[in-house]
Amino acid sequence: MELESVLKEWGGETLVTHYDNETGAWIIIAVHSTERGPAAGGTRMMNYDSLEEATEDALKLSKAMTYKFATVNMQWGGGKTVILTPPGILTPEERKGLLLRFGSLVKGLNGRYYAGPDIGTSSGDMDVLYQTAGPYVFSRTEAAGGAGSSSIPTAHGVFAGIQASCDELYGASSPLGKTVLVQGAGNVGGLLMELLRKAGAKVLFTETNEDRIHKYSVEQDYQYVNPNEIYKTACDIFAPCAQGGILSSETIPLLKCKAVVGAANNQLATPEDAERLRERGILYAPDYVVSLGGAMGITIIEAEGVPKEESFENVKKAISGTLAEIYKKSKEEGITTVKAAEYIAVRRIEKTKAKQIIE
Ligand code: PHE
Repeated sequence: MELESVLKEWGGETLVTHYDNETGAWIIIAVHSTERGPAAGGTRMMNYDSLEEATEDALKLSKAMTYKFATVNMQWGGGKTVILTPPGILTPEERKGLLLRFGSLVKGLNGRYYAGPDIGTSSGDMDVLYQTAGPYVFSRTEAAGGAGSSSIPTAHGVFAGIQASCDELYGASSPLGKTVLVQGAGNVGGLLMELLRKAGAKVLFTETNEDRIHKYSVEQDYQYVNPNEIYKTACDIFAPCAQGGILSSETIPLLKCKAVVGAANNQLATPEDAERLRERGILYAPDYVVSLGGAMGITIIEAEGVPKEESFENVKKAISGTLAEIYKKSKEEGITTVKAAEYIAVRRIEKTKAKQIIE
């Protein structure tokens, strides 16, 4: 789609696009909404084919953050940063400089946007960022006074999403004896695999990184599935925890699962794919609900002072409760789970607006 129409459709507040002369990277900060509170969202640092593609991703991801926070009724808005890195690997000094300059841009937004980590950035990077962007940074290392990696609450949240979906499918929330196929054994997927195994599920996984394949298949005896076989592998739950856009007119007809519940952002290639899944009788847990544990967990620990252990419980309850509500609405009204989720989030955003008008 043309960038112009993507921007019009986005409906967000501010887009900062900055070319970093020193490294050749592009820094794109998308502030989608501050209506419910300051915007917060992760920093995705990776290669894209073009500036248009990177911008489009930042816009979509920032909107998903607005929905994440609204869905669980939190007083935060949605934002996201994409840092499009040049081909090749940045030296540690280049990377540090880039993060510090990104930090100055965040600081310049004066608290309208709080940055966190995402694909390609870590809590260690957030420590660096804090030097120029503080206090508008989430998820620093514990040593630096932050709550640490957001992957941990994210994985616990996905696990709760799988429990809620098992409950919907089989009338019992335990994944005991169920086969779960995890796509991507990274920080979130890897931990999810461990949680599932502990709960008695049969866990299969796919991955492209050799080290991780070795870690989980050879060292820990998880069953490895070749990436080419992934969509046609039979399982109860398919859990995409890697790249987006993987549920499409090409892959959906192949699926042999009863539900899709995973942390990857923007899993549907097009909005119509939600209907495709529904027609095939596959239960789809909307990705931004399943993956909201990272943002929710970290913000309640760092901004609201909720103790870490308690935060996991809050995350799990929020995700399973919301999914149950979504599944119910989708069944009652004969609509996709995506429509049902959107309805719930939009209603909450509208409610805030009404409150602001009255105040
Ligand atoms: N990457 C997560 C997200 O964008 C994590 C995160 C967001 C962490 C906001 C803290 C604050 O959802």
